[in-house]
Amino acid sequence: MTDLILISAEDGVQTIRFNRPEKKNALTSDMYGLIADALETGDGDDNVRVHLFLGSEGAYTAGNDIGDFMKFAAGGGLGGNVLRFLRALATAQKPLVAGVDGLAIGVGATMILHCDLAYASSRSVFRTPFIDLGLVPEAASSLLAPRVMGHVRAFEMLVAGRPFSAADARDAGLINAVIDEAELETTARTAALDLAAKPPQALAIARRLLRGDTAQITARIDEEAGHFAERLGSAEAQTAFMAFMNKGKK
Ligand code: COA
Repeated sequence: MTDLILISAEDGVQTIRFNRPEKKNALTSDMYGLIADALETGDGDDNVRVHLFLGSEGAYTAGNDIGDFMKFAAGGGLGGNVLRFLRALATAQKPLVAGVDGLAIGVGATMILHCDLAYASSRSVFRTPFIDLGLVPEAASSLLAPRVMGHVRAFEMLVAGRPFSAADARDAGLINAVIDEAELETTARTAALDLAAKPPQALAIARRLLRGDTAQITARIDEEAGHFAERLGSAEAQTAFMAFMNKGKK
């Protein structure tokens, strides 16, 4: 079986690559667990100085696996691996860099709010269809997105569900730059390597100062998760999940 998350480390950069291209890198509970493990292990490893997130050609990630949402609903809440992943993102001790090529849906978009540097190819699209799925924003996006892009643009993305192009995302302050897709991974990796080459203690202190109080962020992750768990079992969400699962079927 192919590894659904590929982890590698070189020159101080730990690469965490989503690798389920046939499903547009939709994230399952097991995949969240592997990513959380990598973040936690990398934070404790002196040889890792930066975490770099990458996806596949044309698909960063299509967000949470919808089939898993249905399982979570039956189980009465978000899975433990999802919450562990979200908290690991919020409390990561080392810089997070992302290179987005193509689809960045749901948590694929909201996780970028936790990144310290982010780049996207010009064909990328950031979309959070939470409300259309009968759900609510997650990953502390209800707190972080208004801070990053102001209320009206955060509302447009998280609540109205308007797709943001790479240029929209750059203009909103979600990503640093729009890159030609052929150069995307090199650009993101070079940025990660540059950070990895900096004095790590000064880097860590500066990063902590800029990021501020993570307790507020993890508290918002938990608050959102309570609503999210309740929404997963709602008739609105179940109808939307069934429509997705039955798409293309007569
Ligand atoms: N969960 C589960 N499976 C998913 C998925 C998801 N989030 N996103 C894509 N897939 C699967 C599709 O079901 C399809 O599987 P199949 O080949 O077995 O039928 C495969 O990935 C390819 O997707 P497809 O829909 O055929 O590609 P597309 O290019 O036409 O559309 C998307 C891509 C991402 C726009 C579309 O799949 C989509 O809307 N996915 C749901 C995204 C979503 O709502 N995520 C949750 C956010 S909170």
